[in-house]
Amino acid sequence: MESTDLTWHPHSVTREDRKQLNGHRGCVVWFTGLSGCGKSTVANLVERMLFARGVHSFLLDGDNVRQSLNPSPAMLAEFGEEFARRFGLGFGSDDRKENIRRVGAVAELMASAGLVTLSAFVSPYRADRAAVRKLVEERGQKGDFIEVFVDAPLVVCESRDPKGLYKKARAGELKNFTGIDDPYEPPEAPELHLAAGNTAAEDLAKEVLAYLQNSVKIPRDSNFGS
Ligand code: ADX
Repeated sequence: MESTDLTWHPHSVTREDRKQLNGHRGCVVWFTGLSGCGKSTVANLVERMLFARGVHSFLLDGDNVRQSLNPSPAMLAEFGEEFARRFGLGFGSDDRKENIRRVGAVAELMASAGLVTLSAFVSPYRADRAAVRKLVEERGQKGDFIEVFVDAPLVVCESRDPKGLYKKARAGELKNFTGIDDPYEPPEAPELHLAAGNTAAEDLAKEVLAYLQNSVKIPRDSNFGS
């Protein structure tokens, strides 16, 4: 099938309609950084604060999405070897690209649905993140993709090692581990650069919230307490 065989249907409920209903725009807040840098922790704190302000949001988290939308070949074994090989994802560069491409498409749909969509993926490649930015801004507008670099030095992430994966990678039991034997390309011009090596997660989350108040105009006040 050619892409020209498909037609884009305009939606009868527009982004502007949803914005009026919700009191804020949908957008994508894209957290990127090494494993153990605090992406999920900060994103979860931000989402709690958004929830307390009555903001409609959803968090897409790498560890969870890799157990649902983007499982490994081993998790798809019940569908047969060929199927598992074709559709399962690991951590090689093409697999990471496909992981981020699928997640980017989902994030864009959620933003179009009016949600402040938070995502927490290592997303180590600049080109993959840029492709998501392009998609989100094309379907929405400039400013709808907010890249947040959760910048904690490798030594700090490795000393935290919350899942014991750095230890395994150093022992050679885990291949292609970001920061050890796989690259991480830091953002060159993120909307937000968080110093995550030496700042409490709550303070980092407040930085993100302050940015969203000014950019996407999420409500400043909490009706329910934060
Ligand atoms: S990404 O590179 O494709 O964006 P993603 O964020 O989905 O990665 O998944 C990263 C999580 O998978 C890490 O937090 C870690 O728990 C786990 N993981 C397992 N193997 C690897 C690996 N080789 N490199 C990085 N993370 C890994």
